[in-house]
Amino acid sequence: MKILVTGGAGFIGSNFLNLLVPRHPEHQFLNIDKLGYASNLHNLSAIEGCSNYHFARLDLTDVDGVNDCFEREAPDVVVHFAAESHVDRSIKSPTGFIQSNIVGTFNLLEAFRNASHTPSRFHHVSTDEVYGSLGPEGRFVEDSPYDPSSPYSASKAASDHLVRAWGRTYGLPFTITNCSNNYGPFQFPEKLIPLMILNATEHVALPVYGQGLNVRDWLYVDDHCEAIWTVLEKGQLGETYNVGGDSEKKNLEVIHEICDIVADLRGEDPESLRQLITSVTDRPGHDLRYAIDATKLERDCAWRPRESFHSGLEKTVRWYLDNPAWVESVRTGAYRDWLATQYATDRSTHD
Ligand code: NAD
Ligand code: DAU
Repeated sequence: MKILVTGGAGFIGSNFLNLLVPRHPEHQFLNIDKLGYASNLHNLSAIEGCSNYHFARLDLTDVDGVNDCFEREAPDVVVHFAAESHVDRSIKSPTGFIQSNIVGTFNLLEAFRNASHTPSRFHHVSTDEVYGSLGPEGRFVEDSPYDPSSPYSASKAASDHLVRAWGRTYGLPFTITNCSNNYGPFQFPEKLIPLMILNATEHVALPVYGQGLNVRDWLYVDDHCEAIWTVLEKGQLGETYNVGGDSEKKNLEVIHEICDIVADLRGEDPESLRQLITSVTDRPGHDLRYAIDATKLERDCAWRPRESFHSGLEKTVRWYLDNPAWVESVRTGAYRDWLATQYATDRSTHD
């Protein structure tokens, strides 16, 4: 089988390929990625020599390029990760999110629908953020109403709707997964967990939005990748599956745990790292709480997360400490400029 993976040089896509390419020599994997700021081909160095893995640089907004790729490669299955993924960037500058996440998905769906061969499945990787914010109770299920808050989540909601519409109207064979917050190796350090790990190791401020009481459900990235593979193997066409870690945490709890693990691994005082926590201006439209009910995936496909939050977080901290060259390679001038802009107007409540 030939599997076209989009966005495979980003965080989740590269973990997916690193896990599955060596395990499935009987399948061919083609990774297409525009190589945007959050991507890194070094993430894939472990598999770049594998004969069942190939990479091609392609931007999904290039409609001719996408159609040519489909005709040339004739993939059986598409696993669509490619997207602009950072909520704060979508608030500052939404255009690229509309282009990549909506127009890019549209171009891919059209190439799939008009292909001269008959591909068998379009798997769309999506997020729990499409459902909006929960109050203190309840969990998202597959038919929770869509109520996105940010330009990012609205663009992902739009892409989910496109996939389902292509299913209903044209009979396109699809599956969708909506997953909670991932963490693990290769995550670009603009997201909460890697940003806090690196700042804690460097003893600089740990910027928490508002009071740090927002809740996210955390899932180790390999568990998400296994869930996607399980859906490819066992998921029913036309169905949506929620994926979550059953691991709800307030942001402050996450940051405290990071401080404890970093301190433990480096022989430092955890309290002095916790002192670095600084309340900064809240994210506009900040969703209070996400929580996923993954019963359908567990029941129908026998998937379970393997990693606990503590064990996954410890692995993740170790990975960032053990890979300073990777960290340095992603901290370009553009990255430093982003941090300077994003946290420029922040105020400390701890001084
Ligand atoms: P990421 O930003 O690390 O990687 C995204 C990749 O997509 C990058 O390599 C980028 O270059 C590529 N890309 C973006 N626009 C493209 C385009 N127009 N053409 C080709 N390539 C393009 O993101 P991630 O965290 O790995 O997320 C991957 C997918 O999983 C996204 O669809 C995201 O919405 C979804 N998701 C992420 C999380 C999470 O916690 N990170 C949770 C649930 C779902
Ligand atoms: O829920 C799934 C989503 O999780 C994915 O679809 C997104 O692609 C992914 O980026 C993630 O979105 P979040 O906005 O939840 O993740 P982020 O790491 O940006 O923020 C997590 C929480 O931490 C959120 O409540 C905002 C807060 N935060 C974040 C940063 C970067 C801070 O308090 N301080 C920070 O500096």
